[in-house]
Amino acid sequence: MNKELLEFLKSRRSIRAFKGEQIAADALDAVLDAGVYAPTGMGKQSPVVVAVQDRETREQLVRMNAQVMGASGDPYYGAPTILLVFGPKSVETYLKDACNVLTYLLLAAHAAGLGAVWIDREREMFETEEGRELLRKWGLPDGLTGVGAVALGYADGEAPRPAARKKDYVVKFV
Ligand SMILES: Cc1cc2nc3c(=O)[nH]c(=O)nc-3n(C[C@H](O)[C@H](O)[C@H](O)COP(=O)(O)O)c2cc1C
Repeated sequence: MNKELLEFLKSRRSIRAFKGEQIAADALDAVLDAGVYAPTGMGKQSPVVVAVQDRETREQLVRMNAQVMGASGDPYYGAPTILLVFGPKSVETYLKDACNVLTYLLLAAHAAGLGAVWIDREREMFETEEGRELLRKWGLPDGLTGVGAVALGYADGEAPRPAARKKDYVVKFV
């Protein structure tokens, strides 16, 4: 049993404060490389991951996401890298596949010594004409749904403590 790895899984936390510095290119590649090894229904590898670092696009995503929330702050907490995960509605398991990739990306970020947090509202963002336009600009096919994002960067400060696990989380008949 690899106890170290089990402890590693338990030690991942959502990070919501980031340093301004961009992450190293090899760290980004390592996270993306591991993320795409998530399991997918029938091994179809249905999700598409878009990594955004360019300042202008990042600001556009911040504005689009905040608009869905009806707020004016940065829903990506100032993280310098945003990973967007999409799935094709035509694939029955697209949502589960994309969620698996999001989870793998979070764990890979943790393994790479980066801070990360899952961010929501990408479905609504990419249902707008502006969102569709961005997908076209990126050369992505029609029919992709935004499933979620990972805000990624170097953590600024300590990871928070995990909440206690609820008592009835697991039911065992052994
Ligand atoms: C589907 C989903 C959506 C989430 N959306 C957001 C979000 O929009 N903003 C945010 O700050 N955290 C978001 N989170 C992170 C959760 O709040 C976080 O995972 C939870 O509080 C548990 O903390 P931990 O990740 O440190 O264990 C989301 C997590 C999931 C799984």
